[in-house]
Parts: sequence; C-alpha cells; structure tokens
Amino acid sequence: MLQIPEHKIPITELKTNFDVRIFIKREDLIHPKISGNKFWKLFLSVNQYLEVKPENPLLITFGGAFSNHIASVSAFGKEFGIKTIGIIRGNELENNWHENPTLSEASKNRMDFHFVSREDYKNKEKLTEDFSNHYPNALIIPEGGSNKMAVEGVQYMLGNDTKDFDYLCTAVGTGGTIAGISKFAEAGQKVLGVKVVRDDSLEKTILHWSGKENFELKDAEENRYGKISDENVRFINWFLEEYQIPLDPIYTGKLMQTIFELAEKGFFPKGSRILAFHTGGLQGIKGANLFLKSKGRDLIDFES
Ligand SMILES: Cc1ncc(COP(=O)(O)O)c(C=O)c1O
Repeated sequence: MLQIPEHKIPITELKTNFDVRIFIKREDLIHPKISGNKFWKLFLSVNQYLEVKPENPLLITFGGAFSNHIASVSAFGKEFGIKTIGIIRGNELENNWHENPTLSEASKNRMDFHFVSREDYKNKEKLTEDFSNHYPNALIIPEGGSNKMAVEGVQYMLGNDTKDFDYLCTAVGTGGTIAGISKFAEAGQKVLGVKVVRDDSLEKTILHWSGKENFELKDAEENRYGKISDENVRFINWFLEEYQIPLDPIYTGKLMQTIFELAEKGFFPKGSRILAFHTGGLQGIKGANLFLKSKGRDLIDFES
C-alpha cells in the first residue's frame, strides 16, 4: 500500500498591483519527479490495484513524447518498485527517443516503450484491449491519467488551507483535475479552469465527473495544445524573476498568464482571494527549449 506523503505544500501570495489577491499552491513540490496533480491522480488507482497483490505488478499507459503523464508514471513505478510500459504516440521516435528528454528520463526510470503510429494511437480502445489480453494482470491507466479514481485523488489537493479562497484555479487538459477540485470545493467557492486544449466536450466531461456546476472554463491565449507563444515565454521568464517560481509553457504558464490577464481586465470582483494550483509539468521545459532553440526563439530560463 502506498502512503500519503508527509507533505506540507506552501501557499505563497504573489504581490501584484491588482485589486484582488492572488496566491499559488505549490503542488509541484509534492515529489521531485511525480509532481503536482499527477501524484494525486495516480495515487488511489495504484493503491486499489496493489491491494489485490497482483503477481508481477505492471502499469501501462499512453502519452506523447513530451508527456508529463509518461514522466510521472515512470517515476511512480521507480519510486514504488512497479514495472511500467509507455505506449508512445509516433513510431518515428523508435530509433531516436534517446534525444527526447522526457523519454530518456522515463527510460532511466526503467519504463519500457511501445511506439505506435499516430494513426494506431487514435484507437485507444483497441490498444487497451490488445495490451490487456497480453498483460492480463496489468493496470492500464488512460492517457493523461484522468478517470473516476483520479478525480477522487484530487481531494488531497484541498484542505483547511484552501477553504478561504473565493476562486480555485487550475490548468485543464483532460479535465480530471478540475473535476476533482470542483467536486471537493467548499460551497460558495468558484472553480476556474484555463483550457490548454481545444476540446468542446470538456465541460460535459467535467460535469459528469464532478456532479457540480461550480466551475467555469476560460481559453488560454493560444489554447492549441503544445503551442508556445513568445508572449508566454516572456511571461514565464518575468514570473520566475519576479516571484522565483518556475512555470511550464504547456499548463501552468498559460494558467498564470490567463489569471493575470483576467485580473487586469477586472474579471474577478474587487478583493477576491484567488488560489492557483501549481500542477507541475516542469520536466517539459527541456523539450520545449529544444524546440524553441531549433526555431531561433527566446528560451525559458529555468530547466528542472
Ligand atoms: C502540469 C499539468 N497541469 C495540469 C494538467 C491538467 O490536468 P488534467 O488533464 O487533469 O486536466 C496536466 C495534465 O495532466 C499537467 O501535466
């Protein structure tokens, strides 16, 4: 059985000139490698799986080449002595994955890879069926790690320290994290999600998992997944210098930039206390910088 880590996650106020108060909860500090929401999204499923004492426990999951989820599952496996397999989108990576920082780190964590073409990757149902036939004992975790158990696990991000905020904010990819925040928020708290993907079905998915209508979604400035704008790179570098807190360009950088823009526009009522969850993702900066460098663009100052 996995134990809930002895953790004290700091909440820091960010000094600004806005007429609201903005705070950040550093869930990225929960574990050096399984950071932020990923730890909590995996925690209950893996615990339930280990309870039945499977022979040769094995976690199998899906992800792209820079995926935080792949990084986290591999680190989870290493930390708790469980074998892991990553089904990776793009068979062009088969021979050069060593050059990819996320995959080389996952391999150091002893994750095995199974590369599939982008076309085959779309059919997750078939892949899941094939892999569960081949590894009947394995726990197969969906892409991004979101499912009912993940939503339940997010409750550990909330507690006495988060009760007094008017807004709870998070970046939204597959929707599991915001669904958990929405489900376990106090009555009267508003939940704000910043979408980093174009997915019109997200609202419905979140409502299905959360059962509550206390949330609202906003689009990030450029919400195409993985798109990194120069403006966001400048914001992330400014934020690091101003507050000594690193952000990633795919999730938390977009979250914080959007919160600051909304505060500037007067979206939040005067005096609101706004809490943003830092959900990690810093491992992705290395890969983002490789891409930015190849385009001759400014780099992100922090690499974890
Ligand atoms: C750093 C980071 N923040 C936020 C999210 C969004 O979480 P979700 O997919 O549960 O919406 C993810 C994806 O898991 C992530 O890696």
